[in-house]
Amino acid sequence: MRHFLVTGGAGFIGSNFIHYLLKKYSEIEIINLDKLTYAGNLDNLKDIENEARYRFVKGDICDTKIVEPLVKACDVVVNFAAESHVDRSIGRPDDFIQTDVFGTFVLLEASRKYGIEKFIQISTDEVYGSTLGESFKESDPLMPSSPYSASKAGADRLAYSYFVTYNLPVIVTRCSNNFGPYQYPEKLIPLFVTNAIENKKLPIYGDGKNVRDWIFVEDHCSAIDTVMQKGENGEVYNIGAGNEKNNLEITDYILKKLGKSGDLMLFVDDRLGHDRRYSLNWDKTKKLGWKPFMSFEEAMDKTIDWYLENRWWWEKLKSGDYLEFYKKHYKLDDQ
Ligand code: NAD
Ligand code: TYD
Repeated sequence: MRHFLVTGGAGFIGSNFIHYLLKKYSEIEIINLDKLTYAGNLDNLKDIENEARYRFVKGDICDTKIVEPLVKACDVVVNFAAESHVDRSIGRPDDFIQTDVFGTFVLLEASRKYGIEKFIQISTDEVYGSTLGESFKESDPLMPSSPYSASKAGADRLAYSYFVTYNLPVIVTRCSNNFGPYQYPEKLIPLFVTNAIENKKLPIYGDGKNVRDWIFVEDHCSAIDTVMQKGENGEVYNIGAGNEKNNLEITDYILKKLGKSGDLMLFVDDRLGHDRRYSLNWDKTKKLGWKPFMSFEEAMDKTIDWYLENRWWWEKLKSGDYLEFYKKHYKLDDQ
């Protein structure tokens, strides 16, 4: 029996990862530690709330008293917990530094104190910053350019330092932009899909030519699993899918699939410090025997269908605090 502590498991990728583990392995037990910020949502785990191999604990990764007994009871820690939205980090970076850096420190310290088999730090491709040339390799320098990516870079290197200094069995993953079911509708794809379904405007930053490499969330989960089984301690693994698209291409795909007019496109002020292009070389992860399973089109169609079929999940999220942030951020009064 292997005991997992998954932090941030009520968020988008963490909840998909818990589903992935429970489906694939029978001899496991998972504790999900999540603070339930605006982005944490137990609806993401509704189908498994009575599952015997799974337990939810509401709590903050910055709180040593909560973290220590949970780490003590586990063999593997997978740290997804983070403030994750670049736009929010531009408006108010405080929570990003606290959770993404200090929270990771608390988890690492507890892991050092009680001893664990593996600590997986879920980092991001955004730590490299933007590139108009070669795709980034794991050995490239980190040049994060938003408070979000800078705090993730801090956590990424702090985790590494615990491997070098204390021999903690740490592995760091850096994945590109995810999409799929249960993604909070403030990120590009779920925001545009749900807005288009409701005939609301799709706010495109700047000229819409910024590029991201898009990966289906289940492919990210299977890559983490591979790295956890076959990766080497102290190493970093890039995870990508080779689907580099600019935001206009993503918008066009969504509008076409939903049969909506281009009139829904609305060009708005650019994001401050907006990274032009993220691009990863993930040959090192490929060498472990992993590759993405889903084509971009298949994954987009599956995702768009999921949001069409699960309005109960997202309609209630797009109200209250969300709407306030949304209107202020985009300077829109009519949505
Ligand atoms: P998300 O915002 O959907 O989920 C984050 C979760 O962390 C939420 O459930 C939230 O409640 C929880 N959380 C926040 N602060 C916490 C705290 N102090 N203590 C405990 N729980 C806390 O984010 P996501 O998109 O699922 O991303 C998960 C991780 O993957 C993050 O570390 C992110 O940096 C990384 N990542 C994301 C992407 C992407 O495209 N979304 C790509 C690469 C890496
Ligand atoms: P996002 O989903 O916030 O991910 P990240 O910035 O972490 O890569 O944004 C993806 C791209 O979409 C990015 O270039 C910013 C752009 N974008 C818009 O044009 N409009 C929007 O409303 C949002 C949320 C993002």
